[in-house]
Amino acid sequence: GRLLAVTGSASGIGATTAAMLRARGDRVIGVDLRDAEVCADLSTADGRAEAVAGIAALAGADGADGPAGPEGGALDGLITCAGLSRAGAPQVSVNYFGTVDLVLGLRPLLAAAPAPRVALVSSISSTQPSDPAIVAACLAGDESAALDAAEAAVAAGRPHEIYSSTKLALNRWLRGAAVSADFAGAGIAVNAIAPGVVLTPMTAELVANPDWKRVMDAAVPMPLNGYAPPEAIAHALLWLVAAENSHMAGQVVFVDGGAAALTAAG
Ligand code: NAI
Repeated sequence: GRLLAVTGSASGIGATTAAMLRARGDRVIGVDLRDAEVCADLSTADGRAEAVAGIAALAGADGADGPAGPEGGALDGLITCAGLSRAGAPQVSVNYFGTVDLVLGLRPLLAAAPAPRVALVSSISSTQPSDPAIVAACLAGDESAALDAAEAAVAAGRPHEIYSSTKLALNRWLRGAAVSADFAGAGIAVNAIAPGVVLTPMTAELVANPDWKRVMDAAVPMPLNGYAPPEAIAHALLWLVAAENSHMAGQVVFVDGGAAALTAAG
C-alpha cells in the first residue's frame, strides 16, 4: 500500500476518497477541521503549517529540519479536497491557499517517494465567470490582496465569482507548477479533477431547493448520468495518485457528466 494525505477527509468527496483508498490497502492521513488524523484549519497560514507538520510527523519525518532529509520520511501522494463553496472571502484562503500551500509544504516529502503524485480538486465553476483581480492576487501568492479583491466582489454584488476565481486560479497554478523542475523535474505528477455537480453535503441544500436547482442545472448541464455520486470523483482521483499515472502532468480533467464539453466555446 501507499501513504497518502487527503484534505477535507471528514466529508463528501474527501471522505469517500479516503475510504476507498483504505479499502484498497493504502494508508491515509486525513486532514480536516475535525474528525481527522491531522486536525488543522487550512484557512490560515498557521493552520496550513500545522497541517504540513502533522502530516510530516505521521509520514516519519524526524522533524529536526522540517519534512525533508534522507531519514525524513516520504509521502506517496496528496489529494486536496478541502474547500468552501459559500462563506464569502474565506473561500480564497481555503480553496486556493489551503491547496497550494499544502502542495508546496509537502513537496520535499513527496520528492522523497518513488512515485509521488498530487491530485487537486478544481471545479466546473472554473469555466464560469470569474474576477480577474482575485485570480491575479492568488497567482501572485498575495493572500491579503486576494481577500481584499474577494471582499470587493461581495460589495459589488458578485459573491459567486469568488468560488469560480479560486478554482480558475488553481487550474492556472497547477499548469505552471506541474511542468516545473520542482514537480515534473522531481518526478511528482500534478493534475486535477474538475467535478460537475456532486451529491455531497456541499450541494445538499442547493439540490433540495427547486429554484436553486433550476439555476444550477442551467449552469451545469450533465447529460451523462446527471449529478455524480462522490465515488465517481474518487475513482478518478485514485487513478491520478496511482503509480500507474506516470506521464500525465498539468491536466485538469473534467468529470462533469459532459458539462464542460456542452458549454465549451469553439
Ligand atoms: P464538503 O463540504 O462535503 O467537504 C469539504 C470538507 O472540507 C469538509 O469536511 C470541511 O470540513 C473541509 N474544510 C472546509 N474548510 C476547511 C478548513 N478551513 N480547514 C480544513 N478543512 C476544511 O464538500 P465536497 O462536496 O466534498 O467538496 C470537496 C471539494 O470538491 C471542494 O474543493 C469543492 O469545491 C469541490 N467540488 C465540489 C463539487 C460538488 O458539487 N460537491 C463540485 C465541484 C467541486
